Amino acid sequence: MVTREDNDVMTRVDAASPGGQLLRRYWQPGAAASELTDEKPIKAVKVLGEKLVVYRDTSGNYGLVGEQCPHRSASLAYGRVDAEGIRCPYHGWKFNGAGRCIEQPAEPKNSNYKDEIEHPGYPVQKLGGMLFAYMGPGEAPALPRWDVLAWEHGRRWIVKQDLLACNWLQCMENSVDPSHLYWLHGATAHLGKMGEYDEKHDFIPFEHGIMKRRTTGVSGGGQGEVDQHPLLFPNILRHVLKTKNVKDGKVRHNLQFRLPVDDTHTQVYVVFFEPSDTERTGADATVSMEHLAMRDAEGNYRLDQVLIQDAMAWETQGPVMDRSREHLGTGDKGIVIFRKMLREQIEQVRRGAAPLGCVPKEKERPLIELDVINERIGVGVHKRVA
Ligand code: FES
Ligand SMILES: [Fe+2]
Repeated sequence: MVTREDNDVMTRVDAASPGGQLLRRYWQPGAAASELTDEKPIKAVKVLGEKLVVYRDTSGNYGLVGEQCPHRSASLAYGRVDAEGIRCPYHGWKFNGAGRCIEQPAEPKNSNYKDEIEHPGYPVQKLGGMLFAYMGPGEAPALPRWDVLAWEHGRRWIVKQDLLACNWLQCMENSVDPSHLYWLHGATAHLGKMGEYDEKHDFIPFEHGIMKRRTTGVSGGGQGEVDQHPLLFPNILRHVLKTKNVKDGKVRHNLQFRLPVDDTHTQVYVVFFEPSDTERTGADATVSMEHLAMRDAEGNYRLDQVLIQDAMAWETQGPVMDRSREHLGTGDKGIVIFRKMLREQIEQVRRGAAPLGCVPKEKERPLIELDVINERIGVGVHKRVA
C-alpha cells in the first residue's frame, strides 16, 4: 500500500522535494520553438513549480530565466530582448541566459552592484522543434537525441494539449498500464474488430526506462501479436500508431512529453514523426504546432480522441490521486514496477549519483533508436524464441 508520505515523495515536483530533485536531473520540455516568434520572442512558462520566462534574443540564442525581476519583482514576460539577453520592462535591468545581471541603467557607471545580483537562469537546447531546459545542479547531462526528435527522413510536427489539472505521475502510470487500452480506447484506437479481452503483458526494465510489451490473442495457443513501446524514464512515452482515415494508413511515431508544471498541473506536448519518401525535416528545425482542445462547447471531454480519453481518466483521478485509497490488482504490475523504479531513482539522487538514463555530455549519442514494435499495423516484428 502507498502511504500518504510515499505518495507525497513520488508526486511533489518543487525544488525542495525529493521528487523535484529527481525531475531536475532530466532535460525538460519548456516550450515548442514555434511558441516564440519575432513579434513575441518572450513567453511566460511554469516548469517544476517555478515561474520562468523563455525567450529568444535577437542573436538567435534561447534563454530561460526567473519570471520575477530581482530588482522589484515586475514580470520579465513583458520585457524586451536584444542581442545579449532580456531586459525588464520596469527599470531596464538586463539579464543574460545564465541569469547574470549585465546592466542596471539607474546605477552609477562604475558600480559593481549588478555582480551581486543572483537570478535563476537555465541552459536551453533546441531539438526536434522543442526547447529543452536543464534545471538541475552541476553540469547538464547529454540531451537524449530520441529517434522521433532527431530523425530527418520525414515530417515532424507538435501537438500541445490543454493544460491538465492533475499531477504528472497519473499520466505516467498510464504508460505502464496496458490493460486500459481495450476498455478506454477500444472503439477508437484503430484496434480493428475487437474480440474478447485476451492479453499478456511484460514489463522489461532497460537503460532508458521500462519496455512495455502487450501480446494479444494468446489464449488459443497461437503466438499472438506483439505491441511494444517504452516508457522513457521519468516522464515520456514513446508510441506508434497508424492513421485510419488516410488511404493505406500512415505510420506515425510519437513522443509524448508530460511536463510537470507544478504539483497539480501537467503540460502534454506530443511530437509526431511521419516517415516519408519525399519530405525532410532537420533535427534542429522549428516545426509547426497545433493545439488540442479537450472539451467541447458544453465543457464535456471530447471522448472520440484517444489523447483526450486518457486525459479524462487522469483528471478525474483528482489533482493528486490519493494512492492510499486504491486497490491494485494483478493487472497493475507495470505500475508497481514503475513506482519501485521511481523510488529507487529518487534515492539514487539523494545519495548524489546520476539517475537512470542520465549520461555525461561526452557520451551523447547522435541518435537513440527505440525498439518499438506494433505487429498489427506492420511496424517491426518481435523475435520469438523457437
Ligand atoms: S523591477 Fe525590474 S528593473 Fe526594476
Ligand atoms: Fe491510453
